[in-house]
Amino acid sequence: MSELKEAYERYYWAPFTQMGDLAEKEPLVIVSGDGATVTTDEDETYIDVHGALWLANVGYGRLEIVDAVYDQMKRLSWFPSFDGMANDAALRLARRMVEMTEKEKMGRGFFSSGGSEANETAIKMARQYWRLKGRTNKYKIISRHRAYHGVSMGALSATGIAENRKPFEPLVPGFRHIEAPYCYRCPHETSPESCDLDCARDLERTLKFEDADTVAAFIGEPVMGAGGMLVPPDGYWQEIERICRKYDVLIIADEVVTGFGRTGEIFGSRHWDLVPDIMVFAKALTSGYQPLGATLVTEEIFSAYLGKYGEGRTFHHGTTYAGHPAACAAAQANLDIIEREDLVQRSREKGRYLLDKLLALKELPVVGDVAALGLMGRLELVQDADSRTPFPAEARIGATVSEELLHHNIILRPLGDTLTFSPPLVIEYDQIDHVADALAEVLRNLS
Ligand SMILES: Cc1ncc(COP(=O)(O)O)c(C=O)c1O
Repeated sequence: MSELKEAYERYYWAPFTQMGDLAEKEPLVIVSGDGATVTTDEDETYIDVHGALWLANVGYGRLEIVDAVYDQMKRLSWFPSFDGMANDAALRLARRMVEMTEKEKMGRGFFSSGGSEANETAIKMARQYWRLKGRTNKYKIISRHRAYHGVSMGALSATGIAENRKPFEPLVPGFRHIEAPYCYRCPHETSPESCDLDCARDLERTLKFEDADTVAAFIGEPVMGAGGMLVPPDGYWQEIERICRKYDVLIIADEVVTGFGRTGEIFGSRHWDLVPDIMVFAKALTSGYQPLGATLVTEEIFSAYLGKYGEGRTFHHGTTYAGHPAACAAAQANLDIIEREDLVQRSREKGRYLLDKLLALKELPVVGDVAALGLMGRLELVQDADSRTPFPAEARIGATVSEELLHHNIILRPLGDTLTFSPPLVIEYDQIDHVADALAEVLRNLS
């Protein structure tokens, strides 16, 4: 066993990993990356269809980001932003992000170190906002089944994935969940033809039941990620927005996965002209070159917090490394690449190309649903496509396919039996061809 694998086995505890499984399955230890590929300690190179947890948008090995971080750290390694101080890199990035979200009418940017923290920030901002407006009972947060908003207790309470939640109960009070827009297995058993957006109307029913005067915010990913890469039906977000406006409920758009080109728009919200009150970013804000989260809010929310210290209007929240200059410098260089190389457009074009390849696999009886928006796609494996009968969970078909794909030098992450597609936006067409061909071969052997 290599020194690194021994370190994994003896000293390491990996997130979201059943460490007991490693007796049968060796870890994949990555030591370098270039474009859409990564290379292991054993010098095997793989196409990363997973995009390193859906975030390596500009791809690996971008030396201009490395240089930007290096230059920043030579000048200033770190300085906090508490109590009227700041570092210049955080200020510049706040300005750029507010300018980028002009269409969404964001006014201020608050930084943290990742998606969970950025959502935790959003939830606390929404709760205190209503308190400051004198509506002290407006504290509940409505989210959706299958949502993933993070692992800290507030973000986890908004999350709607049972296995993530159950071991840590009781969670934070005041969180409710409505149905997810999972069209292939519609919770209201309608078809796309007969869909009347009942899953969105579930929000109105819930607001009436809970009393909208007790609800601070609705939080949602424009396209759900960990819940199964679920693209909502047309009209869904418009209906959610209509209901939230009618009942005075803030909208928190969790753009942690959908931000910065993943879906073929710069932000997922843009597909539906959604104008949220709070937008949450992390992941592709730096394409993973540094850990960074950002919570953007409207000037209306921000101004509710203005006053004098001691009046109870201060936002008593923030982590030590919020707005780390190295992370902010990485974000700037990353956003420069996204703009200069028109990666949003490339995501749209390559996403269409990938989707066509995946749709061609529908001739196989194990291929159920196929959908994608930009380079965020899903392929749901089923025992029988006509009846949509799922495989038994214990068959672990998704995991089997993903393990088989490793033999074709492809890293692809399954969510149960749903295969997910979120490669770096710089993936080449011939790499997409290789993925589609290998997948066809693996799935044919399953059929
Ligand atoms: C939509 C969404 N929000 C929040 C998070 C949490 O981000 P982090 O893992 O950086 O805390 C994730 C992580 O996958 C996510 O997919």
